Amino acid sequence: MNRVAQTRLSLKDLIMPYFVVSGKNKQQPIHSLPGLYRFSSDNLVKEIKEIKTQGISKVLLFGKAEHKDAEGSESFSKDGALQQAVRMIKEKIKGITVITDVCLCGYTLSGHCGIVKGSPRQIDNDRTVKVLAKIASSHAQAGADLVAPSAMMDGQVGAIRKMFDQHGFGSRGILAYSAKYCSNFYGPFRDALDSRPQFSDRKTYQMDFRNSDQALKEIKADISQGADIVMVKPALAYLDIIRRAKDNFKFPLAAYNVSGEYAMVKQMAKAGVIKEKEMILEILTAIKRAGADLIITYHAKEAAKWIK
Ligand code: PBG
Repeated sequence: MNRVAQTRLSLKDLIMPYFVVSGKNKQQPIHSLPGLYRFSSDNLVKEIKEIKTQGISKVLLFGKAEHKDAEGSESFSKDGALQQAVRMIKEKIKGITVITDVCLCGYTLSGHCGIVKGSPRQIDNDRTVKVLAKIASSHAQAGADLVAPSAMMDGQVGAIRKMFDQHGFGSRGILAYSAKYCSNFYGPFRDALDSRPQFSDRKTYQMDFRNSDQALKEIKADISQGADIVMVKPALAYLDIIRRAKDNFKFPLAAYNVSGEYAMVKQMAKAGVIKEKEMILEILTAIKRAGADLIITYHAKEAAKWIK
């Protein structure tokens, strides 16, 4: 019964992710994510104006590199696609919370979230953290309200917080991808951003899905390093982690309903075996019921029509 339902979805819970490419007047369909596009900044501004009228006021932006190199140096360029998009959105639209993903995987030739060194090849955690702080600084400079470090490097939140404090960005926030599992559900996203690891996998820095206590340890560390919101990712196969995180910390908590979770729904809908709208609302409500205060979801735009 509606009157006694314990969980109610609200538009302010939802964050819509977008992929940004450089150039003008671009809207490229993403094969792995039916119904979604990569936008150039001008078209992204139009798109965000539209979702704003539907009641969505938070977006998470991913930049797609034009030129990759070993160190992913385009990631902190002030003229990168992402930095330009943030500036344009902040200039043209009021009342939108702009969150930017801070990572290297879309910018490095290796496709890894960090800088690779040595033989056998390894990720250089500490050098990567310095670059992540530079990326976050370039996003803050462009006007980002919150940055979302997703590389799973140790110390990344603390380094960004310190940089913010030293450079007058004290009012900017950090949405920390704290408990990010090494997951098979990221496949479609890696197509969208062309960010597949070119050798090996991300198991040395993302979490093993057999573990639960470690998630709490990671979240605790990020809170102590100055995160404003912590995150569990993915969401659906990790509702137990979301609930444990909420019960243990009483801290703003986000969950990421990732690309593979979205694509599964779209494929089932295409096959005609589900009621799509009902399933999407069930999924989003379950993530909220598990304890998420905020839900990052590619369904945000379509769900807005049904929530109100
Ligand atoms: C990596 C990053 C990933 C996602 C967001 N940031 C995935 C990865 O580890 O390759 C996944 C999001 C999704 O699947 O929707 N920086």
